[in-house]
Amino acid sequence: MLRWFVRIVLGLVGLLLVAVGVVYLWSQVLLSQTFEAEPRAIAYTEDPEELARGERLAQVYGCFHGCHGSDMEGDVPFEDPLFGKAVAPNLTRAVRDYTPEQFEAIVRQGVFPDGSSVMAMPSASFSTMTDRDLGAIYSFISAYPEQPAEDRGSTEIYLGGRLFFILGEFTLAQDDIQEGPWPESRLDDPLAHGAYLAQNVCSECHGMDLEGSEGFTPPLAIAKAYDRTQFGRLMATGVGLDEARDLGLMALVAQSRTVHMTDEEVDALYAYLNSL
Ligand code: HEC
Repeated sequence: MLRWFVRIVLGLVGLLLVAVGVVYLWSQVLLSQTFEAEPRAIAYTEDPEELARGERLAQVYGCFHGCHGSDMEGDVPFEDPLFGKAVAPNLTRAVRDYTPEQFEAIVRQGVFPDGSSVMAMPSASFSTMTDRDLGAIYSFISAYPEQPAEDRGSTEIYLGGRLFFILGEFTLAQDDIQEGPWPESRLDDPLAHGAYLAQNVCSECHGMDLEGSEGFTPPLAIAKAYDRTQFGRLMATGVGLDEARDLGLMALVAQSRTVHMTDEEVDALYAYLNSL
């Protein structure tokens, strides 16, 4: 009797190990895909007005005082023993370590110089970023004092994350990139400008289709319940329609990022979300 029990337990452990091995190997094949980035230059500038604009946009888009740390010195914005670890590197060194073309390929095309894909960086959200915006942000980071290097390891995906990846719950940036950089002139139309902001600022959490993600974020059409004043307050402070409810991560996004949007940008975003 005991012998059978031991055999069954050993058999189950063996099956489990095989299953774990299959998840690792299968996900590794998918994660090791390589891609070719289109060579694109960055519009570097020393114009003080554009640098100030770059500083503001670096906050709105989440590079400065966001995932990469308060001085862009690098950070670990996500770590979970089951899913993995996201390491956002030191951007003040990245601008020095990579050529402008390589930097562009990572940010807007999600491709590292060796052809591998970014894992946690929301490059698909930034794929439409105009040359002017990227140039201003890149120039601001280049002008920012270099921050000391600290070893935070590298981005890794653990078993749960790999399983989610195989199931299609996580995707590579390349699977979500639908179009390249928009020409600046397209932003003259307020509705298009609003769509651009929704993609570059909101889609990393609310989804590329802005439909939200079960158990994490609501569809962005939820903003239609807000009037313009309430929406402005949400973007500037993180206080939602239900003033008593703490919006958690959304409140942090508002206080560190969207508070830096101009009234014109909030108008455009609000008009676009109302058209959904
Ligand atoms: C870093 C992730 C993240 C980003 C970026 C983000 N959001 Fe959110 N947002 C959330 C989360 C999480 C919630 C759910 C909060 C809750 O219900 O506790 C949320 C909720 C909301 C809500 C619903 C609030 C309510 O009344 O329940 C609105 C509206 C919203 N976000 C708008 C936006 C807009 C507009 C942008 C882009 C300018 C944006 N969010 C960017 C994470 C994010």
